[in-house]
Amino acid sequence: MNPLSTPSATPPTVMPLPGVAFIGGGQMARALIAGLVAAGQSVATIAVADVSAAARTALEHDFPGLYLTADPLLAAARAPVWVLAVKPQHMAAVAGELRPLALQHRPTVVSVAAGIRLEQLGEWLGEGVPVVRTMPNRPAFVGAGITGLYAAAVVPPPARAQAAALMQAVGATVWVDAEIQLDAVTAVSGSGPAYFFLLIESLAVAGMAVGLPEATARQLAIHTAYGAGLMARDTGIDAATLREQVTSKGGTTAAALAVFEAAAFRATVTAAVAAAARRSAELAADASAPPALR
Ligand SMILES: NC(=O)c1ccc[n+]([C@@H]2O[C@H](COP(=O)([O-])OP(=O)(O)OC[C@H]3O[C@@H](n4cnc5c(N)ncnc54)[C@H](OP(=O)(O)O)[C@@H]3O)[C@@H](O)[C@H]2O)c1
Repeated sequence: MNPLSTPSATPPTVMPLPGVAFIGGGQMARALIAGLVAAGQSVATIAVADVSAAARTALEHDFPGLYLTADPLLAAARAPVWVLAVKPQHMAAVAGELRPLALQHRPTVVSVAAGIRLEQLGEWLGEGVPVVRTMPNRPAFVGAGITGLYAAAVVPPPARAQAAALMQAVGATVWVDAEIQLDAVTAVSGSGPAYFFLLIESLAVAGMAVGLPEATARQLAIHTAYGAGLMARDTGIDAATLREQVTSKGGTTAAALAVFEAAAFRATVTAAVAAAARRSAELAADASAPPALR
């Protein structure tokens, strides 16, 4: 079979979860709920607590049948899997409020909050509550995310499987071996969409500079990024080989790549990712995780 004919937008097959309570019903929760529902999870098994009436109304409109409340305890009491999806600065208060119930029921707790460490979550929720920390990225909003996951060794396989199934509703998942690697995940895939957006922007502007109308240049840049991403994902051929396959000696691609190499493109990417990883670690060191990380 031609590897390029591999279906690329098949709805994910996600293990049905016994019941999920989202604490915080904003953008990330909405993406996860949409993914779960698209994968066949019944809305009747999903509860959402959000203090914002506007957020609850919007969810009720888009997902009729969800259990909606302003009270985290009411939502959490209904489900064995909890997703902590509030902004990092609200996490201590929310987790503290849930603590008695967490200690009583020992649910699987999944945090999607950037920069909030397991040690902190453990302190707030109570010892022995299984917590999986995740780092999703923004393409999750279109079902094409990738999420890094980490849990301490004591977190049992069923809880890990539930966390992975949840995140697979919005894309791919990858486990890391050490919590500190989530800073690297943040630097590569968390911030990564912005790097590709920058390339798309630059390519479109460059296309205009060589004579294309703006709309045409933009469309070419977007679809080229999309196609290259699909090829890198679906052919099973590594990116270096794919690049070589479109680069004839003395040809147009070679001329362009020579300019990239001369401008230290690889070193620039390495330095940029290192800067993001450093910044992620700095922000994680601050329990209140200021807005720049969000
Ligand atoms: N968005 C992304 O691209 C992205 C990517 C990776 C990770 N994340 C993580 O996902 C988490 C959620 O981000 P988001 O973008 O979905 O944020 P969001 O859209 O602001 O959603 C959070 C929701 O939680 C509500 N909330 C605040 N305090 C609450 C409480 N005590 N109980 C119940 N609900 C409460 C907020 O209401 P108010 O607005 O009234 O405060 C808001 O509706 C963050 O921790 C972020 O780090 C997001």
